[in-house]
Amino acid sequence: MTQHFSYESILKASQAANWKIEDILDGKSLDFSRPFLPEALARTNGLAMLSPKERLILNQIRGCGYLYTFGLVEEFILPFVVDHARPALHGDDNRTRALLQFAGEEAKHIHLFKRFYQTFIEGFGTPCGMIGPADQVSAAILAHDPLGIGMVTLHIEWMTQKHYTESVRDDHDMDPLFKSLLSNHWAEEMQHAMLDTMIVEELAAAGGPDGVERGFADFMKIATMLDGALMQQVELDLASMEAATGRILSAEDKEAVRRVQQQAIRYTYLGSGLTHPQFLAIMDRIRPGSRAELSGLAPAFS
Ligand SMILES: [Fe+2]
Ligand SMILES: [Fe+2]
Repeated sequence: MTQHFSYESILKASQAANWKIEDILDGKSLDFSRPFLPEALARTNGLAMLSPKERLILNQIRGCGYLYTFGLVEEFILPFVVDHARPALHGDDNRTRALLQFAGEEAKHIHLFKRFYQTFIEGFGTPCGMIGPADQVSAAILAHDPLGIGMVTLHIEWMTQKHYTESVRDDHDMDPLFKSLLSNHWAEEMQHAMLDTMIVEELAAAGGPDGVERGFADFMKIATMLDGALMQQVELDLASMEAATGRILSAEDKEAVRRVQQQAIRYTYLGSGLTHPQFLAIMDRIRPGSRAELSGLAPAFS
């Protein structure tokens, strides 16, 4: 089932793409006169009830949340990959090294995003509330079926590819440091998307049809849980924007911003993955009918 990718070639690609945090962060600073997140994900430009400066501030809050949220989900991806690697550490050497490299890169990304968050808050000037804490979110997700967790991870890894190629790569307005973080992250995530495809295929083959159904049910449960957390993040972002701008929005304006931002954040973390052709193809191969089922959900997260 894993004929498309090999551990050996992915290991080689990950070694070629590997970078150090110090090389991309040290001595660099964020430019707060520029947007951080591409408009396709931020959806702040159309908010006519906000001034241009307020829209920029909301975009930067969303950018901060974007990398914070990646760090948050990587807190569960790291132990998930380690747990998957551990029972066969003395088997295929390429497999062991590729999976440990995957885990090591996620540990590095968690570290990078924590350092980014500190740098952001120092430069931004007012606090930005974020969902969490990460260890509790991670424990709640890891309580689910491993195949379900693998499917969620698969969704996240392919979604990252889509964000970069469709929205980030050709955006020349965004802050250069923020763009470089996304570009470096993408370069390593490419291998994660392939490795997680292999993990999901291995777990699906081991679990058989009943195991696949259990995994899919838990994938849906985790996605619903994440959606609830994202709706909390929208409320935190609204509060951060009011604190940063000093403007308290009218109930009507706040509701209008909330509606747009709820859809924006749903598209960012759920809709963009649910429409990814690779994600749908893999899910449909493992569990025939998944493509139609998942595609039917996508409009609610568009
Ligand atoms: Fe990552
Ligand atoms: Fe990853």
